[in-house]
Amino acid sequence: MKELFTHTDVAYWRQNATGRIGLVPTMGSLHAGHMHLVEAAHAECDTVIASVFVNPLQFGPDEDYEAYPRDYASDRDQLAAAGVDGLFAPSVDTMYPRGLAAATVVDVPGLTDILCGAHRPGHFRGVVTVVAKLFNRIRPHLAFFGEKDFQQLAVIRRMADDLATGVEVRGVAVDREPDGLARSSRNAYLNDDQRQRAAVLYHALLEARDRLTSGSHDIATIEEFGRQRLSDAGFQVDYFTVRAVNLNPPDTSTTEFRVLAAGWLGRARLIDNLPASR
Ligand code: PAJ
Repeated sequence: MKELFTHTDVAYWRQNATGRIGLVPTMGSLHAGHMHLVEAAHAECDTVIASVFVNPLQFGPDEDYEAYPRDYASDRDQLAAAGVDGLFAPSVDTMYPRGLAAATVVDVPGLTDILCGAHRPGHFRGVVTVVAKLFNRIRPHLAFFGEKDFQQLAVIRRMADDLATGVEVRGVAVDREPDGLARSSRNAYLNDDQRQRAAVLYHALLEARDRLTSGSHDIATIEEFGRQRLSDAGFQVDYFTVRAVNLNPPDTSTTEFRVLAAGWLGRARLIDNLPASR
C-alpha cells in the first residue's frame, strides 16, 4: 500500500492506477464499519484508495475536533491488511492551503438545513467541500459511504450529481456491534454505563419500524414514543423522526420510509437510522 501525503503524491499515484478506482473517504480511527466500505470497494473496483483526514471544516467551534480519536499507525495497518492500494493522509495545510476561513466551499441547499444540519450549522458544508476536493484530486470512478450517516450520503449524492463529478456514489449498510449499536469512532467517548444504554437507540428505531410496518399511520405518536425511549435511557435527544427515503416529511401516499435519530449520551453524539416500509 502506497502512503500519499501531498497532492503531488496523489497525482503521481493516480497516473499509474489502473482499472476502476474506488475511493473510501474516512476520518480515521478505523473500525469494522469502515472496513466494510473497503470490502464493498474491492468487490466493485480494481484499485482502492482510502483517505484518512480529520476535516476541521466540518466541526463546529464547540465540537470535538481536538478530541476526535486519531491513530494513524493503526489505520494504516488495517488498510494495508485489507489490501488497500493507496492511502491519502493529507495535513490540514495540504487540504486548506489558504486557511479554513478563506476556503472556497460547496453548499447543498435544503437537504443540509434539516436533521443533523439543523443541529450542526456548517457541518455539511464542511463535509461536502472536503469530499468534492477529494473527488477532484483523486478522480475515482466510484466512492463508498456508509448508510450510518444517511443524510450525509444523500447530501454527497446530490453534490456528486449537481457538480457533474462523474463519480458513482455507493451506500453501504450500517455495521453494528452485537447489541445493535452502530459502530462509530465516537463510541470511544462512552463510559461503561453509557455503552450499556447506547443500544436503546437501535431498539427504539426497530420498534418505530415495527409500528410503521404493522400499519400505524400516526407518525407523530411514533416519533414521540422514540424520543421518550431515548430520554428515558439518558439521551439528550436531537431528533427522532420518520421521513420518506428522500428525507422529506412523509405523506399519506408514502410507502418507503427512513426512521432517523440523533442524540447525546454524555459527550458522545450518536446517530442511527433504519429503513421501513408499509
Ligand atoms: P467517518 O465518520 O470516519 O466515516 C467514514 C465513512 O464510514 C462514512 O461514509 C461513514 O458513513 C462510514 N461508516 C462509519 N461507521 C459506519 C458503520 N457502523 N457502518 C457503515 N458505515 C459506517 O463520515 C465521515 O468520516 C466524514 O464525514 C467524511 C465523509 C470522511 C468527510 O470528512
